[in-house]
Amino acid sequence: MSRISAPDLLRRKIAGRTEDKITMVTAYDAQMARLVDMAGVDMVLVGDSLGMVIQGGNDTLSVTASEMAYHGRCVAAGLERAHLTVDMPFMSYQVSVAQAMRTAGLLVRKGKAQSVKLEGGVRSAPAIRAIVDAGIPVVGHVGLTPQSVNAFGGFRVQGRDQENAARILADAHAVAEAGAFAIVLEMVPQALAAQITAELGIPTIGIGAGVGCDGQVLVCTDMLGMDQRFAPRFLQRYANLEVTICEAVQGYIADVKSGAFPTPAHSY
Ligand code: KIV
Repeated sequence: MSRISAPDLLRRKIAGRTEDKITMVTAYDAQMARLVDMAGVDMVLVGDSLGMVIQGGNDTLSVTASEMAYHGRCVAAGLERAHLTVDMPFMSYQVSVAQAMRTAGLLVRKGKAQSVKLEGGVRSAPAIRAIVDAGIPVVGHVGLTPQSVNAFGGFRVQGRDQENAARILADAHAVAEAGAFAIVLEMVPQALAAQITAELGIPTIGIGAGVGCDGQVLVCTDMLGMDQRFAPRFLQRYANLEVTICEAVQGYIADVKSGAFPTPAHSY
């Protein structure tokens, strides 16, 4: 089976097939990648959210490019059809355009990425242009850009006032003009996301950005309900794996202690 490419995804918007929404889910290992791919998701993102989901941190800032490449390679091993995007982590592209190109190259060569994602609009446009010119498709990311959490003072909705909304709109245009084939809009008001979606020629992929985007992205562990403590308004849970997994492990503990497992049938 052939993998979904960046041009395949861009063509959906160009052909006006906006009713055929793009679905993106994060994954960080081959097993989860295999499952979401089998379910039919269009894009799998190895997000730098792995700093929180996998490494247990409070933000994404300590993730390195070699960690992203490692998890990219793991996820790629589980995919047959879905497009693989790998995040460029904090300070792996902000220093210079040359650094951005080197990191993008690493994520393609070692991380098996089909495209890379980086945060920022106007300020990241030169890096996006150079990476695209080197033949690597880019996904942009504006609105709440978690690598700037300290500048924002927390993970909160961006673009609520006119000035900030205008800045995010300009950022989105800069990303598209620099050659990105898609853009993530994170935690922005619905009306602003809908305006960006209408004005841009590339697909918008929303998270906490309302109903008007060309696609959606969720973190796999969030949508599967693996941590009930995380319950933002934008999240829809499609399973309750925290309970399922705890009950399964409790069942195993009880069976081992009672002698119900293993039985002669499990023995050689
Ligand atoms: O790192 C990540 O998982 C992301 C998504 C939330 C878009 O950037």
